[in-house]
Amino acid sequence: MKAKIAAIILAAGKGERMKSQTPKVLHEICFRPMLGYVLDLVKELKTDRSISVLGFKHEQVNKVLPKGIETVVQKRLLGTGDAVKQALGLLNVFHGVVLVLYADIPLLKAKTIKELIRRHNENRSDITLLTARVEKPDGYGRILRDKYASICGIVEEKDADDFQKGIKEINTGIACFNKDKLFSALKKVKPNNRKKEYYLTDVIEIIYKGAGIIDNLNISDIQQAMGVNSRLDLAKANKVMQQRINERLLIRGVTLIDPSTCLISYDARIGQDTVIYPFTVIEKNVRIGKSCQIGPFIHFRPGTVLKDKVIVGNFLEISRSQLGSNTIAKHFGYIGDSRIGKEVNIGAGTVTANFDGKNKNITVIKDKAFIGSDTVLVAPVKIGRSAMTGAGSVVTRNKNVPDGQVVAGVPARPIKVKG
Ligand code: UD1
Ligand code: MG
Repeated sequence: MKAKIAAIILAAGKGERMKSQTPKVLHEICFRPMLGYVLDLVKELKTDRSISVLGFKHEQVNKVLPKGIETVVQKRLLGTGDAVKQALGLLNVFHGVVLVLYADIPLLKAKTIKELIRRHNENRSDITLLTARVEKPDGYGRILRDKYASICGIVEEKDADDFQKGIKEINTGIACFNKDKLFSALKKVKPNNRKKEYYLTDVIEIIYKGAGIIDNLNISDIQQAMGVNSRLDLAKANKVMQQRINERLLIRGVTLIDPSTCLISYDARIGQDTVIYPFTVIEKNVRIGKSCQIGPFIHFRPGTVLKDKVIVGNFLEISRSQLGSNTIAKHFGYIGDSRIGKEVNIGAGTVTANFDGKNKNITVIKDKAFIGSDTVLVAPVKIGRSAMTGAGSVVTRNKNVPDGQVVAGVPARPIKVKG
C-alpha cells in the first residue's frame, strides 16, 4: 500500500522583511496571492490531508483558501518548528509521510515534489530534504554534512559561523518526514538560537543523532526553490512566473510581440492566433477569443470578455465588460460594465460613464451599432442595433436609442440623416 501523505503549508509568518501591513503570503505574483501557487501544488499532488498553518492576520489569509484545506492558527509566531507542531495536532491518528511546504516558495513545480516523495518512499527515509547548490546562499539555511558526507544538520544563516556561511548547499525548506519521527523530534527542539524561535530545521540533527535515515534530493533548477522574503524577491519571482505564463501562451498559439513588456494574469484564457502588442496589462478573470488583436497600451481589468476577432488598441481600459465578435475599439477610451454586441464600431475617445457616485450602471450596445468619436454614454443606457451616435454626443441616462436611430449633440437627440 502506498504511504499516505499529509501536506503542511506554513503560512503564518508576518514577513517582516516585506515591510508591509499585508501578510507576506497575500502579496501577489501575476495577479494572484503567492499562497495560491502552493495551494495549486497541493491540489495536483492529491494529498490525503492538507493543513495550512495561519497566524498573522489569519482571517484575511483564510479567505483565499479553497475547500478541502484544513487550517490551524499558530497563536504566537514562535518559528517554523512550532508551526509544524501546531499542524501535527490535527494529525494524531495519521501515520505516513508529512510533506512540509512553505507558502513563500511560489515557483516550485509539482514534478519536483513528486520526485521528492517518490525518493522518500523508495529509500524508506525518515527525512528527505529538497536541497540546492547555489552560488549565493545568502539568507538560506546551510546543509551540514559529517565526515562520511551524510547530512547531519542545518544551520540558519543568522547562527552560522564563517566556515558554515561559506557552505553553498542550502535548505529549500521543502521536505518529507516520517510523521512519527518528526513528532518525537519536534518535542526536543529548543529555541536556543539568535531569533529565540523553534526551528523546524533543528529536527535534522535530532533525528541524525537518533540514527535516523536522512536523505536529500538536489534540485538543479534553483529558481524553483527561491524563497520570497522581500519586495526584491517578489519582483524577481513575478518575472519568472510571468515568463512561464508567456511561454504557455506562446506554445498554445498566441503571439506576444514583446512578452517582456506585458503583464498577463496566471489565469488568462486567450484563443489561438490572437496577437498581443507591447505594453498590455491583463488582470485576472479575463477571457479573450481567437484571432483578436490586442494593444498596444491596453489595460484589461477583471471581468473583461472578448469574443473572436475583436480589435482593441491604444490606450483603452476595459473592465467587467463583454465585447462581441468582430467588434472594434481601436483608440483610447474607457469601457466599464458594458455588454457590447457583434460588429460594433466604438469610435476614438468613447467613454461609458458607468459610475454615478453611488452605483455602477450598465451600458448595452447592440450588434452593428456605430458609436461616433468622443461619445459619452451615461449609464444606465442602451444603444439599439445598427444605431449611431454622432461625434461628441452625450447620450444621457435612460435615454435609450432605438434600433437604427441616429442621435447627436449634447444631450443627444434623434436626427435625420440625408441619403
Ligand atoms: C526558512 C528555513 C531555512 C530555509 C528557508 C528557505 C527555518 C528555521 N529556516 O528560512 O532553512 O533555507 O526557509 O526559504 O525553517 N512561518 C510560520 N510560523 C512561524 C514562522 C514562519 O508559519 O512562526 C512560515 C512563514 O509564513 C513562511 C515559512 O514559514 O511561509 C518560512 O518562514 P521564513 O521566516 O520565511 O523562514 P526563512 O527565514 O525564509
Ligand atoms: Mg522564507
